[in-house]
This record gives sequence, C-alpha cells and structure tokens, in this order.
Amino acid sequence: MRLTIKNLQNKTIYISEKNTILQSLGENAIDWMQACGAKGRCTTCKMIVSQGNEYLTDYTEAEKKFMAQKRLLTQERLACQVKPKKLQNNCEIIVQVPKIYQLPHILYND
Ligand code: FES
Repeated sequence: MRLTIKNLQNKTIYISEKNTILQSLGENAIDWMQACGAKGRCTTCKMIVSQGNEYLTDYTEAEKKFMAQKRLLTQERLACQVKPKKLQNNCEIIVQVPKIYQLPHILYND
C-alpha cells in the first residue's frame, strides 16, 4: 500500500500492516513530529487524511479520547497509533502534515 504526503512534495512511500504509519515514516527517513514518543498522549504526530482513511485500522482508544476532547477530527489520525489494514496492496492513502506540527528543518509545500 502507498502513502503519499501531499504537502511534502507528494512524497510516496510503501507501508506495511506490520508497522504504524509513524514507524514506516521513520524507516523511510521522513522526520515527523512525535512529542510523547509514540505513546498516544500528545497528538503532535497528527496527520490529515484526505484519501484512504478506510484502509487504516479502526480508531484506537487514544484517538477516541482526543476526538471526544475535540483535539482530533474525524479525518485526522495519529500516525503513531494507526496501521494500514491487511491485503490492501493497490490502494493509496493521501495525508498532509498539519501546519502547527510541521518541523522547522523541513520544506513543506503549503
Ligand atoms: S507521538 Fe504523541 S500521540 Fe503520537
């Protein structure tokens, strides 16, 4: 399955259901904000999913908690919590890095 980061020059990586999105980003040397160390406690790893949310695993308890607090919207997912579902090889997920969580040393195109 492919994951494209729209505001990172449409960078595309291949992701596996064995890893969280954050782990796959790390394996592809893409720096991504992660203030709580991928423990689902901060929302800084948030990604805006514009296509393919249905190919991702269900909302985790951490995501549901932040949704209840209005800190996470339906089309937003925590990269450290979510994985792609199995057997979705020809699918593409398109995400964006929210402006508030963009890293200063990376050039985003939005
Ligand atoms: S890194 Fe903190 S919630 Fe994902």
